[in-house]
Amino acid sequence: MRDLLHSMKIGVLMGGWSKEREISLLSGKRVFQSLQKQGYQAVSIDIEDRNVLGVLRDGNFDVAFIMLHGELGEDGTIQGLLETMGISYTGSGVLASALALNKLFSKRIFKAVGVRTPPYLPLSKILSIDHVKDRLVKTLGLPVVVKPVCQGSSIGVHIFQREEELSELVPQVQEEFGDLLFEKYIDGTIATVGILGTGEETRPLPILELVPKKSQFYDYEAKYTKGATQFVIPAHLPEGVCQKTQDVAFLAHKALGCDGFSRVDLMISREGETYVLEVNTVPGMTELSNLPAEAEAAEISYDELVFEILCSAVREGKGR
Ligand SMILES: Nc1ncnc2c1ncn2[C@@H]1O[C@H](COP(=O)(O)OP(=O)(O)O)[C@@H](O)[C@H]1O
Ligand SMILES: [Mg+2]
Repeated sequence: MRDLLHSMKIGVLMGGWSKEREISLLSGKRVFQSLQKQGYQAVSIDIEDRNVLGVLRDGNFDVAFIMLHGELGEDGTIQGLLETMGISYTGSGVLASALALNKLFSKRIFKAVGVRTPPYLPLSKILSIDHVKDRLVKTLGLPVVVKPVCQGSSIGVHIFQREEELSELVPQVQEEFGDLLFEKYIDGTIATVGILGTGEETRPLPILELVPKKSQFYDYEAKYTKGATQFVIPAHLPEGVCQKTQDVAFLAHKALGCDGFSRVDLMISREGETYVLEVNTVPGMTELSNLPAEAEAAEISYDELVFEILCSAVREGKGR
């Protein structure tokens, strides 16, 4: 496999126009440097505008290493374009990517296969919060979490303590992000589990517990400011809870049809129940990111992690 990959030109796709552009550039550059260091013929490709087709054509590469977060790279659209062009790419296919980026559709699937996820209520961008407020408070209680249906990096995530805040702030969040999701607030441990490998080799990595030092939750600042969040790995959880958490993360990845790698975001309640929040099909690969830390805890170096992700692009029988 290594020989085959060494003969190929690898295009590391990064940037894009989603709100996670800056993070994608950090992830992409680090992956690119790792590939170069390992002797691969890598090219770094920053997708800056809508001329994606032209950029991909001009890039003249054999394999795409997708490091675009959010819209375009994580929602199945670039995967569809690469499929059409006959170019192999890393990670999940069209359907799994599209499902995973949409938190509402993900949750419907989680519920169908028995993956516990926080109770929720969707709010379409065309409906007013006043129509659902009473039902919302009655069914989900307070505090309550609101998040965009299709976003990442905690952008647009808010936790409301008081009912009055809903009418004041939700319209602004709707204006900026469109369709929203309200979720029951789970009080407990914030954790993520990386999933790595394809087919039979797919396995969960050790659980990473995240302890933001200042923020109320794992928000944008806590994610991307050096020293703002303490990483506890392995997580301080009872053995049985760890096993259940890894199992449910693996099941969530499989249920959406993900492939190659992903990172499952979770909340573990004080009662020891694990709730899946979402699956990220192109998780961050920056210096401060979760997945590289989880790999390291499993004695997989950053370079080896990059290699294993790269292998997901060229394995036999990769299905969409
Ligand atoms: N239901 C919830 N209960 C408690 N905290 C939550 C809940 N949902 C999200 N959070 C907090 O917000 C963070 C980001 O939520 P997540 O659903 O993973 O969205 P994103 O795609 O923006 O990462 C979580 O890591 C957690 O700290
Ligand atoms: Mg998340």
